[in-house]
Amino acid sequence: MDCAGVIGYGHMGRMLVKGFLSSGALCPGEIVVASRSRESRDICAGAWPRISIAETNRELARRCRTIILAVRPQEIREVLCEIVPVLSRGEHLVSLAAGVSLEDLEGLYPGPVTRVIPTVTSAIGKGTTLVCHGRRVGKDDARRVEGLFSSIGNVMRVGEADLTAATLLSSCGPGLLAAIIEELAGAAARASELPPDRALVLATEMVAATAAYLRETGKAPGDLIGEVATGGGVTEAGVEGLRERLPGVFDEVVAAMLERCGAVGRS
Ligand SMILES: NC(=O)c1ccc[n+]([C@@H]2O[C@H](COP(=O)([O-])OP(=O)(O)OC[C@H]3O[C@@H](n4cnc5c(N)ncnc54)[C@H](OP(=O)(O)O)[C@@H]3O)[C@@H](O)[C@H]2O)c1
Repeated sequence: MDCAGVIGYGHMGRMLVKGFLSSGALCPGEIVVASRSRESRDICAGAWPRISIAETNRELARRCRTIILAVRPQEIREVLCEIVPVLSRGEHLVSLAAGVSLEDLEGLYPGPVTRVIPTVTSAIGKGTTLVCHGRRVGKDDARRVEGLFSSIGNVMRVGEADLTAATLLSSCGPGLLAAIIEELAGAAARASELPPDRALVLATEMVAATAAYLRETGKAPGDLIGEVATGGGVTEAGVEGLRERLPGVFDEVVAAMLERCGAVGRS
């Protein structure tokens, strides 16, 4: 049967199973889940009584055409060594593991391999899943996987050379933006009598509305700034301060994240 399998029922595995099933991209008979612990398998069976739970990764591998590896980077090798002996080379392996290259994956499995990077906001069907196909992936496999992941948001194909920078934006970005929302709301609350919880609600709604405005109008950020930051006005004072300091701050932030990326997958 043409099933999709998810190995690893952790944060990402749970999010994917929920997204694929609740969007209708897969029906319960089309998905198989395996996870290392009995506890995770039982949690999955309790949440989704109609899907198949495999007792072992090999059992899943024997039954699935598309196999999604939702385990941590340091666990990938062990899982591949376990399942590759039962694969026919026709199965499509889809790895979520940050920092594990296509070359590494193709070195362990001589069939089609794709890397995907979803994001925390995929849990609500928003944001972009990055997709990077290996050289053995054919058109049909590519279409099937992109179709599956488009059920949890947008899908963007990227070359592996761009994957790290794209990941900083799409997958790390929500964490960065959440930190900015916290700091902006905190500063407004500290400088006034606005209660911190109300400041946080206002800042969060403002960010959501600003993103929606840019997307729906097709305007560039600079156009929006021009509309709000009128000469000598309040916003202009804020934008000037940010433009002076933010390039340096963000260069440092990106450099720190890139340095950390180099360490992911090596442990
Ligand atoms: N979190 C994010 O925002 C994010 C975003 C993009 C990509 N990713 C990538 O997604 C992957 C998973 O991340 P996560 O946050 O979901 O990690 P996680 O919560 O730690 O989940 C990993 C799961 O893998 C299972 N596992 C470990 N070894 C296994 C084995 N040998 N066989 C079967 N299952 C095994 C564990 O199972 P048990 O629970 O049964 O022990 C655990 O549930 C990582 O490679 C990460 O780089 C994460």
